[in-house]
Amino acid sequence: MDAARLRAAFPVLERTAYLNAGTCGPLPAAAQRAAAEAWRFGIEEGRSGAFYERLMPMSDQLRERYAGLLGAARPEDVALTAGTSDGCGRVVAGLALGPGDEIVTADDEHPGLQGPLIAARLQRGVTVRAVPLAEIPEAVSENTKLIACSHVSWHSGAVAPMAAIVAAARGRDIPVLLDGAQGVGAVPVDVGALGVAAYAGSGQKWLCGPVGCGMLWIAPEFAGRIAAPAPGYRGVADHDVGLASGLVENALRYDMASQDLATIAAATAAFDILAEPGLAAVQERAIGLAASLASSLAAAGFAVLPRGETTLVSWTVEGGDEAAVAVRDRLQAAGVTIRNLPGTGRLRASVGAWNDEDDVQRLLTALV
Ligand SMILES: Cc1ncc(COP(=O)(O)O)c(C=O)c1O
Repeated sequence: MDAARLRAAFPVLERTAYLNAGTCGPLPAAAQRAAAEAWRFGIEEGRSGAFYERLMPMSDQLRERYAGLLGAARPEDVALTAGTSDGCGRVVAGLALGPGDEIVTADDEHPGLQGPLIAARLQRGVTVRAVPLAEIPEAVSENTKLIACSHVSWHSGAVAPMAAIVAAARGRDIPVLLDGAQGVGAVPVDVGALGVAAYAGSGQKWLCGPVGCGMLWIAPEFAGRIAAPAPGYRGVADHDVGLASGLVENALRYDMASQDLATIAAATAAFDILAEPGLAAVQERAIGLAASLASSLAAAGFAVLPRGETTLVSWTVEGGDEAAVAVRDRLQAAGVTIRNLPGTGRLRASVGAWNDEDDVQRLLTALV
């Protein structure tokens, strides 16, 4: 792939070694142009019929792109959401869970998944059991009604033991919900091969779109068990019959109710920047660069966390959170953007295909 051409699409890289796509990917200039055109249209033409005639097909084009990336059999198995948290929330809220039911999760999940699990515990009396990600398969019991965990851990970049998780779930017909925030766009994802019931992802991280876009794939065979908690316009089957209408039979009933044309247009433009060299090539390059950063850090004596073939590299700083924040801020001043993981004394670098060896070297030089 032409790495220099990809890199040139992202203005932030002219200023800083931006290594924080795990929070939000760098935005390409093309996304700004697409969003500006959407706003120009709304401002100059108004937002009535013609506006929605742009919005609807463009939403479906974004849905098609997400579906292709996830390996979904049909675009209509994918809902457009506000992000991973939104998708996770829809699945947990849509399952008929109550007292006596148990959800098994990992003990280092992101608040975006923890929020819906906390709500299930507080509002519906569900038991939530948290164990280390690698131990989820053994934690499944006869009371388990949902396994909900990350595909790729946001703390370490470790990959969930998917074969064992799915094997433990299948015997008891338990749905598996994957939080794919650090998965989709970063590593190859094939939802059918993963064998899960639902996969929630973000558009603003490894797909470099604006905040407020994402996706939720639901396996058609599980869709009957996951009620749509808040169907919007696209979820109503027949707009001409009012309350007599049913809901659409596909994943559009899980769509978030409203998304702006600028968001959809910018997300699509960003996706197409990555699609030009190909998402597979983008992932391969990023995973390779991350592996090389991880081994350089380990060779320099940093306590790198055990990780998988992913795009995240985390290490523990001596001196806890305060020291980690100080290092993060020192690096930012030196033109290197990474993040700390509050409460852990860890730092995390997110490596994308838009980064290069020079970015990695700048991080290493600033650290030592
Ligand atoms: C593992 C994980 N889950 C969920 C989220 C939240 O994602 P979103 O902002 O798309 O809801 C993040 C983002 O930081 C994450 O790393």
